[in-house]
Parts: sequence; structure tokens; C-alpha cells
Amino acid sequence: MAKILRLPQDLALALDILQNGQVIGIPTETVYGLAGRIDSKRALELIFQLKHRPATHPLIVHVGQTMQSSRDLKKAKLIVDTHPLIDRLIKTFWPGPLTILTAKHPDVSPRVTGGSSMVAIRQPRHQDASILLAAAGPLAAPSANRFGHTSPTTAEAIELDVDVIDGGPCTIGIESTLVLVHQTSLEIMRPGIITTEALEQLAPVVTSHHTLQAPGSLPHHYAPRKPLFVTDTPMTGAIALILLNGSSKLPAWQQSATIVHTQILSEDGDSLMVGRKLYTALRTADASCCDSIVIEPPDTLHGPLKNALCDRLKRAKSDT
Ligand code: TXA
Ligand code: MG
Repeated sequence: MAKILRLPQDLALALDILQNGQVIGIPTETVYGLAGRIDSKRALELIFQLKHRPATHPLIVHVGQTMQSSRDLKKAKLIVDTHPLIDRLIKTFWPGPLTILTAKHPDVSPRVTGGSSMVAIRQPRHQDASILLAAAGPLAAPSANRFGHTSPTTAEAIELDVDVIDGGPCTIGIESTLVLVHQTSLEIMRPGIITTEALEQLAPVVTSHHTLQAPGSLPHHYAPRKPLFVTDTPMTGAIALILLNGSSKLPAWQQSATIVHTQILSEDGDSLMVGRKLYTALRTADASCCDSIVIEPPDTLHGPLKNALCDRLKRAKSDT
């Protein structure tokens, strides 16, 4: 039976689980992760198995707050070279929702990176994640959902049969910004709450050519199980999730469907508010008796999560 753990009191138990090559659900400020030791073949296999994730799709390495520079990451045998741009990213955005992608140290298992020569590293800000990482060392942790589906933003939303550290609801609710570090520029591989404008303060940001095959970059990802449509016909003037019966196709619902429930995510398009609520709202909609889900157009969205939300909705929606 899966256990719910709380930190700091259950730290020894959490470390025991990880030491045994098992995996554990962990809270971060973005979404919950499924964590395992990066040096445990068993744990890494388990992560892919539980998530039904293809073996070529890489995992983010999470590190504790002792890592304060590219020199520390090199010393920990995670990356090959020190880099002034990485240092500036760390200084400005860590701990926090930024994942840095750079050349991996030979000691990082290809199981972690999906065979790639690059490694993605992030230092979460959530207090429980920090406590765990300080004691356990670097942990590989993808979002704790089945491959392709919506990331969990509460401990209860984790559908995998694993022990979970319950650190409350995630305050951001959308996955971290993933940035590839070039010699003198940055490339955003996955938008998140750290915006292009914020990164441009440090270095020029080039448009992603998506040369790397990353699961978050696949056209269909982050999806609920029920059909999700993004309509361009405003109904409430707010950002709202509308649950429908009687139709599983757009635009037919506008003529024939019955509205079962309308949930306002934000009256005025506040992206931070929508970010905190979206995945839970999609999960509740999935568990309800509705046939399909419609989300109102993100035109009014504003604030730092706007791009990330538009990206996730584009990937989560069904073809129309
Ligand atoms: O906010 C987050 O980043 C959350 C929390 C748990 O930290 N984690 C997360 O992990 O979203 P995951 O595995 O669901 O998404 C990781 C993203 C994917 O798009 C993956 O392809 C990319 O990071 N990624 C990881 N390692 C990579 C690598 N070596 N090369 C290219 N992309 C990589
Ligand atoms: Mg994911």
C-alpha cells in the first residue's frame, strides 16, 4: 500500500526508500515529480516503467541548494564544463522553476539522458524538495504522471502506485522553463514561468528549432483523457473550463451540447491563477461524467505564464 510521507519527520523513511532503488513522489513548486537516485539502475528503470515512458525520453536531474555554480555542478560530475552563462542563470533563477540543459559529464548515465550527450538540471525551490535533495543527493525526476498525460499538482493527483511526500498544492502548477545554453545565447526548449524577457536580461534568446527530441516538445502531450477543445468563441469573457455532454466534436457542441458545469479559472486572464488551477481542473473534468471539455480562448491571458499556458493547451487539445 502506497504511503503518504511528510517532511521533515519522515525524511529517514524517504531516504530509505530511495536507497533501496525505489522511487517516490516529490513536491516541487511547479508540479510533482517521480524521483529516483541517478546512480540506481533499478530506480531509473522503475521510473520509465511506472510512467510508461519510452526509454529514449530523458529525465531532469534535480539538485539541492549546495549547487551554486557551474563549478559545483562540474565537481558533482553532472556537467563537463564551467560556463559563465550557466553561473548567471543559477545566480538569477535558482532555486526555482528553471531547468538548464548543457553537455553532460560522462558519469551521468545515458539512462537518465535517454542516450543524449546533454543533461537537464534543475534546483527546485519547494522546501520539501530542498530538504530531500540536501540529504539524498541528485535525483532524476520526471513529472509524476503517465507519459503524455497531465502533470499532478497535488499529492492526491498522483495516480501511480508509489509512496508520496505530500508538500501541499504546487504554487506554480506548470512545468519549469527548459533552456538550452549555447556559447553566448540561450534557447527556450519548453516555455515556463521564467519568460523570454527575463532570460533576455542575461543573454540573447534565440528561437528554438526543436532539434532535440524531447517529450514536452511532442505535438500531443499534457493531455486529459477526454477530448479537450480550445474554442475561439468567447462565452463567459473569462478563462473558463466548460464541461459538456452530448458532443465530442467542435464546433458541434455550440449547437447541440449541454453544459454540465462551468469553472472559471480566472475572471481577468491572470496567468498565474490559471496556472495554479488548470491541471487540477482538467483532472476533475476527466473524473466527471462529462463527454468533453472546452476551454475558452486564451486571448485575455496575461502575465508570466501566458506563453507556457498557450503551449500546454496547444499540445493538450484534441485535433478538431
Ligand atoms: O517543472 C519541471 O520541470 C518538472 C518538475 C518535477 O521538476 N519536471 C518535468 O519533467 O516536467 P518531465 O520529465 O515531465 O519533463 C522534462 C522535460 C521534457 O520535455 C524532456 O524532454 C526535457 O525536459 N529534457 C530532459 N532532459 C533532457 C535532455 N537531456 N535533452 C533534452 N531535453 C531534455
Ligand atoms: Mg512531464
